[in-house]
Amino acid sequence: MTETRKNFTSKLGVVLAAAGSAVGLGNVWRFPTEVGNNGGAAFILIYLICVLAVGVPVMMSEFLIGRHTHANTITAFSKLAPGKWWRIQGVSGVFVAFLILSYYTVISGWTLYYLVQSLKGGLLESQDYLAYFSSFVSDPYMPVIYAAVFMLMTHLVIARGVQSGIERFSKIMMPLLLLIICVLVVCSFGMPGAGTGLRFLLKPDFSKVTASVVLSAMGQAFFSLSLAMGCLCTYASYFTSDTKLVKTAFSVCSIDTFVAVLSGFIIFPAVFSVEGVNPDEGPGLVFVTLPYVFNMAFHQSVPLLGYLFSGLFYLLLLLAALTSAMSLHESVTAYVIESLRLPRKKASAWVSVCCMALGVLCSLSFGVLSDVTVCGLTIFDLFDFCASKIIMPAGGLIICLFTGWYLDRKLVYNELTNEGTVPFRLFRVYVFLIRYVVPVAIALIFINELLG
Ligand code: PHE
Repeated sequence: MTETRKNFTSKLGVVLAAAGSAVGLGNVWRFPTEVGNNGGAAFILIYLICVLAVGVPVMMSEFLIGRHTHANTITAFSKLAPGKWWRIQGVSGVFVAFLILSYYTVISGWTLYYLVQSLKGGLLESQDYLAYFSSFVSDPYMPVIYAAVFMLMTHLVIARGVQSGIERFSKIMMPLLLLIICVLVVCSFGMPGAGTGLRFLLKPDFSKVTASVVLSAMGQAFFSLSLAMGCLCTYASYFTSDTKLVKTAFSVCSIDTFVAVLSGFIIFPAVFSVEGVNPDEGPGLVFVTLPYVFNMAFHQSVPLLGYLFSGLFYLLLLLAALTSAMSLHESVTAYVIESLRLPRKKASAWVSVCCMALGVLCSLSFGVLSDVTVCGLTIFDLFDFCASKIIMPAGGLIICLFTGWYLDRKLVYNELTNEGTVPFRLFRVYVFLIRYVVPVAIALIFINELLG
């Protein structure tokens, strides 16, 4: 027997759960570096345009598909287009969520390890941060254990269900995350390098803006807003008939962008406070450069401050990762519950175990399996490449074509306006964007990423 389908119970729960999916590692470590390297405020401006012109319309489309069908992503497409090949988008959404969850868990496990080590003191006492990081990630056991603990945390939330799991924990974790960000921004602004860091981040340099910068802003918007992975579509299937889809999409996009910009305000002032440190990107920035910065800027003078700042920072990263992982997990679990008719606890356990098995391979690809490559990519890089460079943009394109060209215009309008009860004056603009502008934009990202 399967559980009866539950819905989110409050507007706040809806916004915080969806924002939790969007706010993730991508906001904290990818956005700030992209801004710093690609023209500062000029990049932020382009990013905002991408969020408004591409992110919001695609998110609204996912919302309407999910809420209209009240089903997991695969069933949603089958219901709206019975017997048609559109179903493939549902399948690829669930598959890619599974794939991403497997490697997202590995990095989240690193975050958990760094949190534990900052609190225990082991991290900041280390002398060589690169060696510290490399020896940890290439170890066959420790990263796997931490990834498994992270998966267990995600599992425990998902197994409790939509209301007492996802909604309840999003309502606790998201406000906590926002609070930590604000505390860290204030601390970071008080540091000696704050001015230089802010100038690096914000100085508009339009000479750096090329076509490929515009496309990478769009790619970043896509990943950061969790689009085309069935996550938001699945969450929307738990929205009630009075949830305002357009307003929710705007709120989620605003929170996501706000967190991304504030993350830059935390990282760069801190990084520029320590002489000789250059902002690196991705894992290097978060796991090598920042521990050094925390040590030099705080720990050397007041050790307690060092523990506090680094502990809070990795806790922030962990919360962001956890709320995103929950949405990836739920996208797959909802399908398993509804298609295999398994009870939620069993379904989520299967998803956690299978995903963890892939996660072990991803983790080992930094150590003992680093020689195993396909087309020159390790297992981890291969998963990342397939998911974020191929399946995700292709999925975005299909969603636009589906809502813009296949679905009945009346159905789309009724869903976005709650049967005409909520005004949506820009409906025509939405239709224009989703039919013409977004598909062309996504096709360009796709080609750019494949060629680049
Ligand atoms: N949006 C998340 C981030 O910024 C990543 C993510 C992608 C989460 C897709 C869920 C689905 O890190």
